[in-house]
Amino acid sequence: MRVAVFSAKPYDRRFLQMANEAVGSPYHFEWIEAQLGPRSALQAAGARAACLFVNDRADATALAALHEQGVRLVALRCAGFNNVDLAAASRLGIAVARVPAYAPEAVAEHAAALVLSLSRRMHKAYARVREGNFALDGLLGLDLHGRCVGIIGTGQIGLAFARIMHGFGCRLLAHDPAPSQDAIRRLGIEYRPLAELLADADIISLHCPLTPATNRLIDAAALTRMKRGAMLINTSRGAMLDTTAVIAALKSGHLGHLGLDVYEEEADLFFEDLSGTVLQDDVFARLLTFPNVLITGHQGFFTEGAMRAIAATTLANLDAFAAGRAPLHAVPLPEG
Ligand code: NAI
Repeated sequence: MRVAVFSAKPYDRRFLQMANEAVGSPYHFEWIEAQLGPRSALQAAGARAACLFVNDRADATALAALHEQGVRLVALRCAGFNNVDLAAASRLGIAVARVPAYAPEAVAEHAAALVLSLSRRMHKAYARVREGNFALDGLLGLDLHGRCVGIIGTGQIGLAFARIMHGFGCRLLAHDPAPSQDAIRRLGIEYRPLAELLADADIISLHCPLTPATNRLIDAAALTRMKRGAMLINTSRGAMLDTTAVIAALKSGHLGHLGLDVYEEEADLFFEDLSGTVLQDDVFARLLTFPNVLITGHQGFFTEGAMRAIAATTLANLDAFAAGRAPLHAVPLPEG
């Protein structure tokens, strides 16, 4: 079966090919470097499945173009599926599959790395010491032990993050429409309405999916509710933050620290080497000027273990589809 792999990077090739070869290479992968769009969709000619990543926009037009090329399965090699127009997929008869949980610890550990780097000013200390500057002014840290951490979304990643922060001796608050009874018992997590969590937490980390309900969840009003000097971490999806409001809160000093692995307009920036070009995104450029902001380019998922798991689950989704069954991890579609 032919599979068109969009946004294909060398590391995608390596891990998908390895998983394919391990089972006798049943799939022929078409490596397409471009992101999915109505034009690049033409490169999927003859493919039954399109394998997509977080910034491939599978809107109604792109899906119709894929459908015309023969595609009947969108196999996401990520957990989130906010980039797929599910109603359009349903109308066209295209199944959608994802990789629901490949290595939740990988993303949780990255969120924790952002917390630790910001709390101990690692990003500043690293540069200083390399320049022979051993002064401590401006590097005053904050203790994590005894701090109150607010986790929004306690699914696979949120709970893995909770376990890590529990290990640091933090008090854990959470907000989730589906509270985990196990986490209440084992980690002493206290579930709270969002407004209370925002008001009480010293560190707030987002681990819920991007949906209409979580779009701009952290807007100017939410930022005002937070403690002065609080730390905000987002490793989920960029659109959960109103970035302009976040910049205003950073400028006023109300928001004390910001750690991001995702950005609303990341599709035009992340996963590419743009070091030789002029940055056109003024909002992103402003974020980079703050000493208390640390940004990584959507690398939370990017560990050896997670890449292997993504490839294995993607192949399992393809296997089920190729055998005429529903994909193993199908995204439920609305009635077509
Ligand atoms: P999950 O499905 O296991 O958990 C999501 C949790 O969010 C669920 O418990 C759900 O009840 C909760 N939730 C839903 N709506 C909510 C709301 N309005 N307020 C609070 N909680 C809400 O998902 P998982 O695997 O933990 O992933 C979470 C998100 O992390 C993904 O949707 C994706 O956007 C992001 N992600 C980021 C990666 C990265 O590389 N930075 C990699 C993988 C996922």
